[in-house]
Amino acid sequence: MEKIVVVVVFMVLLSCQNKKQESFGVEKTAVPEVAENSVEAKIKLGESIFNGVGLCHTCHKPDQKVIGPSIKEIATIYKEQNADMVDFLRENAKPIVDPTQYEVMKTNFAVTKSMSDEELQAIELYMHSLIK
Ligand code: HEC
Repeated sequence: MEKIVVVVVFMVLLSCQNKKQESFGVEKTAVPEVAENSVEAKIKLGESIFNGVGLCHTCHKPDQKVIGPSIKEIATIYKEQNADMVDFLRENAKPIVDPTQYEVMKTNFAVTKSMSDEELQAIELYMHSLIK
């Protein structure tokens, strides 16, 4: 009889442990929501601006050149030259990727200049996140 009790207790303990692990896994995948200021959350914000209100995605695709250079090309050149994308988007720095097409990009400064530091930094983080 004692043995059965021990076995039952053991099994209950085991099943509790399994549940704990399950819920831990769920919490892990929900991290961006929990840590609002995490890099992941900022990248998500940048991505949503880039593909949403910023309309950047209409000219910039991740991998291939459309109207503008691809996001990866831009991010790679900015990384290599250690350049500041936020400065560029505020019209405080010259174009370094494709200066011959600068006039086309310039039309966006009305939008990007009205964005907050946080939003511009989020866009920069998102663009850089694609080449990591
Ligand atoms: C109408 C098309 C168009 C839209 C919309 C657009 N871009 Fe561009 N973008 C371009 C073109 C063309 C270039 C290449 C010219 C250049 O390098 O300045 C460019 C270049 C860039 C560069 C590289 C600048 C450099 O140093 O040469 C960045 C960064 C950039 N765009 C970010 C953005 C962001 C962020 C948005 C959204 C707010 C956006 N673009 C929306 C067309 C566009």
